[in-house]
Amino acid sequence: MSRHEPWPLPLWIAHRGAGKLAPENTLAAFRVGASHGYRAFECDVKLSADGVPFLLHDSQLDRTTPARGVAGLQDWAELSRTDAGGWHSRGFAGEPIPSLALIARYVQRNGFALNIEIKPTPGQEQATGAAVGRACLQLWDSPEPLLLFSSFRPEALQGARETAPQIPRALLLDTLWPGWWEMAQALGCVAVVTNYRLMDAALIERLHGAGLRGLCYTVNDPAEAQRLLSLGIDGIITDAVDRFSPGAVGLYD
Ligand code: G3P
Ligand code: MG
Repeated sequence: MSRHEPWPLPLWIAHRGAGKLAPENTLAAFRVGASHGYRAFECDVKLSADGVPFLLHDSQLDRTTPARGVAGLQDWAELSRTDAGGWHSRGFAGEPIPSLALIARYVQRNGFALNIEIKPTPGQEQATGAAVGRACLQLWDSPEPLLLFSSFRPEALQGARETAPQIPRALLLDTLWPGWWEMAQALGCVAVVTNYRLMDAALIERLHGAGLRGLCYTVNDPAEAQRLLSLGIDGIITDAVDRFSPGAVGLYD
């Protein structure tokens, strides 16, 4: 896939479902994002101890649930009973940690696109990518037009490539570390997703010149969004689903 071929994502992508308006990486967050008109979502996916892909940002359960410890050391039966909403606000108490299977059903029923950030428990990079790739081929009837994998961890993208080579991949970058360009090429990435502070005219031109797309996270400031739009950015991942209208290039503010 190059820039001249079909691309799975619209410009505006809701971060962790709906950013901060609802508990991140829950189905409730996706519903809130959708209620603001979003049709594409980013979420973080890792594996339970018994190999079930599920949504959670941190390696530890502590910040977003009442449970403690490394999430990836618990079986899905236990994780699926864990409250991932009450930490955010009372109205979301009882909202469960979702499996990737649940989110797959929701986005497919609604015709939404999904950017799955493969966020492995440290030490499980390749296995997580491979398992998520395998799961997506089972969960989506036709995954190619609606899915993008991304990861900060090249081994995770390599794992996904081994089991689901047809699902497009993007390298996530928080810094432009030595060798990132060669790594993106070696992994057959179709896009690079950078911290918005890294994106400038030279970088987007370099990406576009090589047939790659350039996306940014996590853009919540209208002036910053405008700067990226004028550069010709291909995707903006945002928490501010109530501020940025996903229709055309308009902002709510
Ligand atoms: O995928 C983009 C963004 O989500 C990466 O950062 O820490 O929010 O997962 P983080
Ligand atoms: Mg993420």
